[in-house]
Amino acid sequence: MASSLLNGAEYLGLMRSVSPKGLGFARSDFGGKNLNLRRLALVSPARVGVVKRAVPKCSVSASRPASQPRFIQHKKEAFWFYRFLSIVYDHIINPGHWTEDMRDDALEPADLNDRNMVVVDVGGGTGFTTLGIVKHVDAKNVTILDQSPHQLAKARQKEPLKECKIIEGDAEDLPFKTDYADRYISAGSIEYWPDPQRGIREAYRVLKLGGKACLIGPVYPTFWLSRFFADVWMLFPKEEEYIEWFEKAGFKDIQLKRIGPKWYRGVRRHGLIMGCSVTGVKPASGDSPLQLGPKAEDVSKPANPLVFLLRFLLGAMAATYYVLVPIYMWLKDLIVPKGRPI
Ligand SMILES: C[S@@+](CC[C@H](N)C(=O)[O-])C[C@H]1O[C@@H](n2cnc3c(N)ncnc32)[C@H](O)[C@@H]1O
Repeated sequence: MASSLLNGAEYLGLMRSVSPKGLGFARSDFGGKNLNLRRLALVSPARVGVVKRAVPKCSVSASRPASQPRFIQHKKEAFWFYRFLSIVYDHIINPGHWTEDMRDDALEPADLNDRNMVVVDVGGGTGFTTLGIVKHVDAKNVTILDQSPHQLAKARQKEPLKECKIIEGDAEDLPFKTDYADRYISAGSIEYWPDPQRGIREAYRVLKLGGKACLIGPVYPTFWLSRFFADVWMLFPKEEEYIEWFEKAGFKDIQLKRIGPKWYRGVRRHGLIMGCSVTGVKPASGDSPLQLGPKAEDVSKPANPLVFLLRFLLGAMAATYYVLVPIYMWLKDLIVPKGRPI
């Protein structure tokens, strides 16, 4: 049981990467900058580090090492996590981690420049990000998909989303045909997907030729205590992992934009639940060139109840640390004089 408790995703040794400690940025900067990490790697390989990859054309899924437990990075655990969190999500969770300013900043690289665009919002939850999308795109062209009926029930109550299509589904197995959408948006959901590469491959598949994916997600902390709780809770990818996943799925013109709450003053050492917005363009119609094996997890399949309960409780306890971090940073921002680092 211990191993099934720990193995959120199995590392199958398909990808070996020698990654840097950080990405060599001179300082933290959310300031609306788009970072093309591949270009950065070309101009400064010594600082960015060397990425050695042996990517097979057909790989079994689960490309991220299971070096940490990440107890809620499982479909069933995430389902039950949101059964409870959906009650307070919009009022307690979002204000600390995902403000309207951040959302609009993160959606800007998605180029939502035509009201007639077909848009899918994957892991759309209570529709907080969809509210940002429908400022630019007609609601009738937007589909909100989520595995949690409890989250979607909140989205259904929002007046500006009345005309959106709202459906239950799995980010790793989308119920849309290939070449369907102009834009794929997913905000704050990847951290719960047992196999993030599979979800990003799906993003590629459902987009039309020239369509754009915009995936907003967490970034990994560097401070030891934050790292500990992050690793117990869920997946906090490193910036270079997002780029790798997008590249392997077949995306081109991949960009990463750093985001964060204003009162953090650019601090990223505690990680961020919404820390970056990654975009990529689909260069050819059809399916992704990346082949994957069968899905590892299905929320409808029975799970070992004891394993489930332990993961759920430990993961949820670790998550409470991340309720406290934004409050701590907010107090620091109030106390430390402006212009000084916090
Ligand atoms: C942090 S919430 C983000 C909600 C919304 N996108 C927002 O910006 O507020 C994460 C959402 O991802 C959903 N989710 C987690 N795993 C999923 C999966 N495999 N497929 C679809 N949705 C998933 C959860 O149910 C939850 O509603």
